Amino acid sequence: MLYIGIDLGTSAVKLILMDESGRIHNTVSREYPIFYPHSGWSEQNPEDWYNQTIQGIAELTADIDKTKIAGISCGGQMHGLVILDENDSVIRPAILWNDGRTASETDYLNNVIGKRKLSEYTANIAFPGFTAPKILWLKNNEPENYKKICKIMLPKDYIAYKLSGAFCTDYSDASGMLLLDVKNRKWSKEMCKICGVDEAQLPKLYESYEKVGNLLPELAAKLNLSDKIIIAAGAGDNAAAAIGTGTVGNGRCNISLGTSGTIFISSDSFRIDENNALHSFAHADGHYHLMGCMLSAASCNKWWLEDILHTNDYSAEQSAIKNLGENHVFFLPYLMGERSPWNDPSARGTFTGLTMDTSRADITQAVLEGVSFAVRDMYEFAKKTGVTLTNTMICGGGAKSPLWRKMIANILNIRVDVPVSEEGPGMGAVMLAMTACGEYKTVNEAANAIVKVAKSEEPDSELVKKYEARYQQFKMIYPALKEVFEMMRC
Ligand code: XUL
Repeated sequence: MLYIGIDLGTSAVKLILMDESGRIHNTVSREYPIFYPHSGWSEQNPEDWYNQTIQGIAELTADIDKTKIAGISCGGQMHGLVILDENDSVIRPAILWNDGRTASETDYLNNVIGKRKLSEYTANIAFPGFTAPKILWLKNNEPENYKKICKIMLPKDYIAYKLSGAFCTDYSDASGMLLLDVKNRKWSKEMCKICGVDEAQLPKLYESYEKVGNLLPELAAKLNLSDKIIIAAGAGDNAAAAIGTGTVGNGRCNISLGTSGTIFISSDSFRIDENNALHSFAHADGHYHLMGCMLSAASCNKWWLEDILHTNDYSAEQSAIKNLGENHVFFLPYLMGERSPWNDPSARGTFTGLTMDTSRADITQAVLEGVSFAVRDMYEFAKKTGVTLTNTMICGGGAKSPLWRKMIANILNIRVDVPVSEEGPGMGAVMLAMTACGEYKTVNEAANAIVKVAKSEEPDSELVKKYEARYQQFKMIYPALKEVFEMMRC
């Protein structure tokens, strides 16, 4: 049989068509715009996601035997606030995961309600990109829209709703709303009260690999597909990527270098980071995970190369980099503020250490290294929770660069394993669809059968030493500039 995995990303929707053995039959990618109406804000139109997804499905399935398609599932960008009115119309553009407008609502939640209570209710504290502060922002700033809300959902849930008619979400994605009692896998009554949300406005909760419905007959007819196709709940993109790289079971790690950068550590049991620097979320395999999320990762490289240098030739720029571990330039990758580990929407990107002999390659290198050092920052907080790693999987657009993988391996001093398919969230989504259709009994079984390691990058002791010294310098820059960033915000 064939299965469709949808990765509803920030820059594009990527679709994969795969059979049960893991053979990819086709892939399609379709872009949509992102809007920055004010500095630090970011929005997208849910209708754009839906239209591109539907056209993507049509393109993906154009030349195949459509009767073989058994299931569809979606891994999606997390935390985005999608609101529908009584006619099921989208009330306003979705407010995305990397939007920093909710600084005062986040301060209110963390300081007036208090981090201790938030952590007790949800296992997490408030971050500006999370969904609950956005609901409060809407209440404070757009009361007319707030009053119209009938349904609150996350980006990939909008797709599942339009495909199946089921108003649903899954535990992994719901964890990032700050409305879920993560430990007990149910909506938090306390948080609903704090945000003025009625549980009826929230979607029904499922495990990621559960069936939520079938493809709606009208849509099935339009796409020339069967209305027996099963729609699975799907997952937040990081949990889906973790499934897609086989990061299931206790203490395994996946690093994603996408628009955001994440470190994801799977856990059989519920765990919490006492420092609240890492999120404590449900995993898509029915268990839990700890995760750190940087707001700008591969997007820093894209910004530097495409927007500033006006080039698309990433490998030409990277082949000019020769002096690994010896660069004199540092880059802070906080182009959209920073989530993990600092929770600081005022933080900004900087270059430090420039001299008259700084070259273009030095700066390109600093950008890649700055993102890698920031991943190390998150790893340091993971270590404080007792996590020790010898290796990690890696995925996302940035993971395609051998040089960047080498930096990660040496800056974190762990082996980096590259899966055969780097499609991350799409791969995971496909496996969730397979499990929902009964092709595999568990997500773990699907991952064992499908995920293979293609190659590995081992750390080199000389380079590890050089990078350790550089990391010790890097980690002094943000604390030294924190007050300057705060001043710039006022
Ligand atoms: C995770 C997060 C990002 C988005 C990007 O907490 O905010 O990784 O899911 O798609």
